[in-house]
Amino acid sequence: MRTLFIFFVAGVLTATTSLLLAGSGFGQALPVVKINAKKAALGKRLFFDERLSGDGALSCASCHIPEKGFADGKPLSSAYPGTEGFRNTPTLINTVHKKSLGIPWFHDGRIGTNLNDVTRDQITETIWMNMDMRIMQERVKQDPVYRKMFKDVGMGEPSNGKVRKLIPEYLKTLTSRNVPFDQGKMSAAAKKGEALFKGKGGCAQCHNGPLFTDGQAHNLGVPENQDIFKEPLRHITFVAFNMFMGNENFMNLRRDPGAHVINHYADGRDMGKFFTPTLRELKQTAPYMHNGMLASLKDVVTFYNKGGGNDPNKDSRLKPLGMSAQEQANIVAFLESLSGDPLTGPEHVYGESISQKYDPIPNWLTVEN
Ligand code: HEC
Ligand code: HEC
Repeated sequence: MRTLFIFFVAGVLTATTSLLLAGSGFGQALPVVKINAKKAALGKRLFFDERLSGDGALSCASCHIPEKGFADGKPLSSAYPGTEGFRNTPTLINTVHKKSLGIPWFHDGRIGTNLNDVTRDQITETIWMNMDMRIMQERVKQDPVYRKMFKDVGMGEPSNGKVRKLIPEYLKTLTSRNVPFDQGKMSAAAKKGEALFKGKGGCAQCHNGPLFTDGQAHNLGVPENQDIFKEPLRHITFVAFNMFMGNENFMNLRRDPGAHVINHYADGRDMGKFFTPTLRELKQTAPYMHNGMLASLKDVVTFYNKGGGNDPNKDSRLKPLGMSAQEQANIVAFLESLSGDPLTGPEHVYGESISQKYDPIPNWLTVEN
């Protein structure tokens, strides 16, 4: 009896928690976030500054490109010079909302607490910007423009901790604008598509809430991107990542383990699961899925209409849908109605090239900046 009671209580708790998660409603407005405009402007300069990477070759914007919806338009990302990436670059538009909605970051959900940690990961990891935080701090301190900007926002001297707060302040400015769905300005086809999305298509089971994601990981049987295993520079990055993440048998892996990285279940039930991404701004961010295997929204809908791919762990909700070509086109129209204006104006893009012409500080190790 007591055990039953405990199970009952646990059940109620789980049900309550999942109601509180992103999953609950459908397509609500995005949460409003408070932005400190001056700090965001400083964060913007840092986001576009190549000096934040080890050899000065990459800025955040090298991979999160404004004209490509802050993704990069490629199936698999590039990486630090001399290597190549093995996952699709996600959009950064609306990424700031993940925190309040309880959705973790990265395709495999490996960082769930805050954007400050994600920013540190992107700057310091060998495969991304390969930067030592102490060197970064000194580089920023050498630049008189930064010294002035840090003082003006009341943050005193530049430091690596402050950089990791300021970039997320800029990321707060990257949120959807003028989205037909939010404005109730959808075409007739898109409206039909919305009904199919919630009904026959079964899409809203996983794609709901303000970002159209349940914040959970699922296996859809998306085919592996064989370039990861055929191209040595990608494969070496993939192997190194899996080794550092403690994934078993990393030398022989021939699939991306995805969210397995979180719990490493011995029976492998978490293998090949990826977190449900946002469906906002898809018009700007082709190709799709964690490995860029689906080139267009039409391809994505065809994939679901067939019941997804093949995988022993495939989510049981994916079944052939039997939708006509017209119904599929309506779903595509609905997906397109979730995209708003590109964020490519001066508010979001640091227009001028960042000047690196300044005299070094004499005795910089001993003087106060
Ligand atoms: C070399 C390309 C590259 C560079 C440079 C880069 N990123 Fe990324 N970024 C990626 C890729 C690829 C992912 C997805 C990785 C994964 O899921 O395993 C990602 C993921 C992210 C995410 C998680 C998004 C989400 O919704 O899950 C954030 C936030 C992010 N990057 C911010 C930044 C910031 C800030 C910088 C600069 C400090 C930066 N990135 C530099 C390629 C890059
Ligand atoms: C079982 C949960 C589930 C269902 C049902 C589902 N999706 Fe997804 N969706 C996901 C997951 C998980 C991903 C990411 C998979 C990956 O990265 O490999 C995804 C990815 C996508 C993407 C690609 C987004 C991007 O940026 O790469 C689109 C578009 C999409 N789904 C639309 C739909 C539509 C339309 C339907 C209904 C026909 C649907 N989904 C049904 C879970 C689901």
